[in-house]
Amino acid sequence: PAIAGNIPQDVTERAGENAVFIVYGLKETPRTADRIKDLCANFSAMIRSIRNRFPDMQFSCTMGFGADAWSRLFPERPKPRELETFQEIKGARHTAVSTPGDLFFHIRGRQMGVCFEFASIIDEKLKGTVDPIDEVHGFRYQDGKAIIGFVDGTENPAVDENPYEFAVIGDEDSGFAGGSYIFVQKYLHDMNAWNALPVEEQEKTIGRKKFNDVELSDEEKPANAHNAVTNIQDSAGNDLKIVRANMPFANTSKGEYGTYFIGYAGTFSTTRRMLENMFVGDPAGNTDRLLDFSTAVTGTLFFAPSYDLLETLGE
Ligand code: HEM
Repeated sequence: PAIAGNIPQDVTERAGENAVFIVYGLKETPRTADRIKDLCANFSAMIRSIRNRFPDMQFSCTMGFGADAWSRLFPERPKPRELETFQEIKGARHTAVSTPGDLFFHIRGRQMGVCFEFASIIDEKLKGTVDPIDEVHGFRYQDGKAIIGFVDGTENPAVDENPYEFAVIGDEDSGFAGGSYIFVQKYLHDMNAWNALPVEEQEKTIGRKKFNDVELSDEEKPANAHNAVTNIQDSAGNDLKIVRANMPFANTSKGEYGTYFIGYAGTFSTTRRMLENMFVGDPAGNTDRLLDFSTAVTGTLFFAPSYDLLETLGE
């Protein structure tokens, strides 16, 4: 962890084998705030228990709050600087929609059973004080591929970089140091159109080789490739990164094939700039080719407090 006393939640973990993504809305009841605060106070202990019982399960769970929920639950507290209701991004051809969400859980584990168990414990604790909004069960596919057949997650900060540097708030918003902005989007893919595209065209869409994940050279890679539009730098030329843990999901008999996008960032403006490049283009019109085959049906911003702040929120 980057900052002693502000231990981050598990915001830099790999995507993992299985994941459950749950979005809840808060119900207006006299018990709502107390129940949520109770969960905040107990959250680390609940995770500790599962890890202790299943040490080999690679279990983790992060918990986040939407902007409205934060103000309603903790009216006396300041808000993290960049926590706001996600403002829709509307380009000429594509839209990053904004959809509601008050509480968010990202549960990861080697087996779905352990994810389910934790989800059911949370749900039991919140019963009567929340409404379900969305739940997606994601799985690891082949060698970590998105459902469109390309390895997803390669360029995440790792090996030679400290992922906390990108995923976690630092001194710039010191009251929230160790926290992270979670942005999620549920995408549906037009697999008929995608599969009709020759593999070389698919590779130009992603910017990498399909078979072995090798990156296309600068000459081969078009300006509207996904990994060209999302590769961004600050004014000094330093790479701006986020930590992604996307998962495929599917309902094959319904023809539903999707990617649950999840990005953790210490500055939401970084994620937002990537989205603007994808949906509007920089220059405008140079939109992400991947969006011709992918539609965002949700889009919500949450804030994941450090474990230390989470405990304080429970008081
Ligand atoms: C790279 C898939 C949405 C940000 C990639 C790669 C794949 C991929 C296959 C190449 C391998 C890698 O480096 O991970 C998808 C799919 C999406 C999606 C299927 C949903 C339809 C997004 C969104 C963002 C994003 C919404 C940002 C808000 C990035 C970044 C990279 C990347 C930063 C690395 C770029 C680089 O090489 O520097 N994505 N992605 N992706 N994606 Fe996505």
